[in-house]
Amino acid sequence: MKDKLSLEEKERLEEIYYSFLNDPKIDMMKDVSMHRGSNCYLHSFQVAKLAIKRALRRKKKLDLESILIASILHDYYLYDWRKDKSLLKKHGSRHPYIACNNAKRDFNINNKVADIILSHMWPINFKCFPKTIEARIVNNADTFVAFKEAMTSKIYKAKRIEKKLWLISELF
Ligand SMILES: [Fe+2]
Ligand SMILES: [Fe+2]
Repeated sequence: MKDKLSLEEKERLEEIYYSFLNDPKIDMMKDVSMHRGSNCYLHSFQVAKLAIKRALRRKKKLDLESILIASILHDYYLYDWRKDKSLLKKHGSRHPYIACNNAKRDFNINNKVADIILSHMWPINFKCFPKTIEARIVNNADTFVAFKEAMTSKIYKAKRIEKKLWLISELF
């Protein structure tokens, strides 16, 4: 699939991917637990890889840079609702706004990336329908990865996360 990309396009996407992968701000997502067998960091890069893979399967040329950046930042809300139950209420509908505001504060994101982040929880976040194909791809990839994580056994969770990090070491 990546053959659809020119060398420059491929290198540009990899450059973005690795700059986020090694960014100390993004590292903070490692402290945010996710569904079983994952944390926010691992989850977000898995969503990014899947979203790019699916986008490359489409005939239409899509905005891959926005898909990539939005996927990595879609859960950049930086709090752990499992450690503070008061945050649990409305987490599902609120966290896209918090992630989007944090992403605007810490990274120079454009409106398209912001829209993809805001709509990633549709239909839970019912007011934010994913209007573009790029937004729908990220929304679907997030649902798929989250479902797989939720099906993972809780046992040896920490071990699993360490073992899975190699999965996100490369974009392609
Ligand atoms: Fe989310
Ligand atoms: Fe997510």
